[in-house]
Amino acid sequence: MKKLVCAILTLMMCFGSCAFAAGPERPDVTWDFAVPLSDTLSDYAVLVNRDNLLDKSYKPSPLVKVNGVKRATSTAVEMQGTAAEKLVEMFNAARQVFEYNYVNEKGKTVTATYDENGMVLYLKSGYRSYGTQATVYANYLARNNNVDDGYSSPPGASEHQSGLCADILNADYASRSRMTQDFKWTAEAQWMKENCADFGFILRYTEDGEALTKTAFEPWHFRYVGESIADYIMGRGITMEEFSEQAKAAYDDFIARGGDVDAWLAYEQAHLNQPPQPEVLEATDETGDHETSLLFF
Ligand code: DAL
Ligand code: ZN
Repeated sequence: MKKLVCAILTLMMCFGSCAFAAGPERPDVTWDFAVPLSDTLSDYAVLVNRDNLLDKSYKPSPLVKVNGVKRATSTAVEMQGTAAEKLVEMFNAARQVFEYNYVNEKGKTVTATYDENGMVLYLKSGYRSYGTQATVYANYLARNNNVDDGYSSPPGASEHQSGLCADILNADYASRSRMTQDFKWTAEAQWMKENCADFGFILRYTEDGEALTKTAFEPWHFRYVGESIADYIMGRGITMEEFSEQAKAAYDDFIARGGDVDAWLAYEQAHLNQPPQPEVLEATDETGDHETSLLFF
């Protein structure tokens, strides 16, 4: 009787694992880069900078109003739909922070403590149209003796036109008329840098990356790229420019090795984000009968 039950269980599990394994087979030429091929090709991986301009007519879709967060501006802020959703998640996660250790401007580690509202982030800016960016850039140059020092991007070169980024401040800086780099010495800036990748965001313009981004360090500017790319970039402390180059090199290598993009994308679609597959372990119990167990990992 025990053997019969075991046989039925084994059969059931065999059918179960067959269902899990359905889908295209693993192509012989494999995509070996740490970020899935589909993510490197997604709209969220778009590189926008002074060498890679967005068209004047480009507008993100869907473009939504970001609701339910504190703002550092009286006007509504819009962002691309997924980026907006993930931004709200990040703001809500900050509200669960009641104590945070950070390094102050004297280089000393200190603890920020918050009341029952937790750490409150303020959204300053999100989507800007090509035309708005042209005005922002012209105004900046006018204020700055006509010197382009990398703080404001020319129209077409601004990520703000993609709707995928946001300028985020704390209460103190939200009340100031200017965003300045010493924002980096705040608990909020350091918490965002440490945690943004969990929500698919990166710190886009880093202190070390100015030569590559051709943009001044902006501790307030976070860009949505999706979680796998954010983990890759923030985990390595690199810029979006370096990621894009590495992803392109991986793509070129994949093609040179005879890789089939469509076949690999189909394979990824069938196999990524699948529930863990049960592993059937066979063992004998004290009576010598076979026992079957399921191990999830
Ligand atoms: N401040 C950033 C670089 C922009 O203008 O897009
Ligand atoms: Zn910005």
